Amino acid sequence: MSVSGDPLLDVQDLSVAIGTREGEIRPVSKVSFSIARGEAVGLVGESGSGKTLTGLSLLGLFPPGSAVLSGQIRFDGQDLLALDPTALRKIRGHRIAMIFQEPQSALNPVLTIGTQIRELFRSHTDLPPSRVAELLLERLRSSGLPDPERVARSYPHQLSGGMRQRVMIAMAIALDPLVVIADEPTTALDPTVALQILDLLAAIRESRTKGLLFISHDLSDVRRVSDRVLVMYAGRIVEESPSPKFFGTGPVHPYSRALLSSRPSGAGGTRRDSPLPAIPGQVPPLWDLPAGCAFAPRCPRADDRCRTSEPPWIREGNSQALCFYPDTTPLGVSVHVA
Ligand SMILES: Nc1ncnc2c1ncn2[C@@H]1O[C@H](COP(=O)(O)OP(=O)(O)OP(=O)(O)O)[C@@H](O)[C@H]1O
Ligand SMILES: [Mg+2]
Repeated sequence: MSVSGDPLLDVQDLSVAIGTREGEIRPVSKVSFSIARGEAVGLVGESGSGKTLTGLSLLGLFPPGSAVLSGQIRFDGQDLLALDPTALRKIRGHRIAMIFQEPQSALNPVLTIGTQIRELFRSHTDLPPSRVAELLLERLRSSGLPDPERVARSYPHQLSGGMRQRVMIAMAIALDPLVVIADEPTTALDPTVALQILDLLAAIRESRTKGLLFISHDLSDVRRVSDRVLVMYAGRIVEESPSPKFFGTGPVHPYSRALLSSRPSGAGGTRRDSPLPAIPGQVPPLWDLPAGCAFAPRCPRADDRCRTSEPPWIREGNSQALCFYPDTTPLGVSVHVA
């Protein structure tokens, strides 16, 4: 896949297997992508496509019972997968940070927000307490929390969902990481708060960190935040496309096009309370993937070749798709952002 210049983070051919009762699954399969300095990359796909596990891989976090079958994750001149646990811990949270899909589970309910953020500085830096106190308030303030002193004294349950999500962002940017992974950061937030969080993330990538991986199944959010879009299906990345192209003339993989066309439509196309897009058919179970292209059973363009052979990467302009028959017809849709 395309790598422009010297990427900040570069994932090559990453495959992760997990043993399950039904059999071995590969929720991350032959995944390659890069994030350039100053770039925000969106990662989209239906539930269960492997987005979160891909994000966790970048922190060197793999579920129990899993094995990395292949791949390299190059960051700052090193292969993260070859690092020992101590070296990896130094990078995790410090140089690469993640805003988790479930903020509740990432915040300690019995410690104040201030204590939790101070602990981050204590474990990763030698800064004196006075400097940490300043930075703590500065990070909370720049995450859009208007009364940082009060927030620092609060326990997680004393804050609203939107405030907790801002605290999660403050924690992710606390140590000024080079890469931030934001996993569905607006789930369960009301639309106004969600838009503020998205703008905050876009600003983080411009002003504070060098790269953002933005994971979402909401394409309006992805359009708002991302420069480039990666589409995942059944553990594989199936398309990479610049956002202006993706949301302009449209992506070229039939799955990406289905995702875009079946997205919830509301005022301005940004309704957030809708169920997941309804593409006809079901995502195949990962332990029983069809031969050939995993999307073939749902694909209007599929023929025998798609059902028997693994599709190649085909470049169409500045998009790439894992498909025998990429569709280059302009979609003629315009996705509006509120
Ligand atoms: N610890 C685990 N053990 C076994 N299977 C797992 C584990 N974690 C994830 N999976 C499976 O791996 C696949 C990918 O999961 P992942 O959480 O990455 O999906 P996702 O794209 O983030 O979905 P969502 O949009 O619902 O968050 C799913 O089929 C999931 O059931
Ligand atoms: Mg997820």
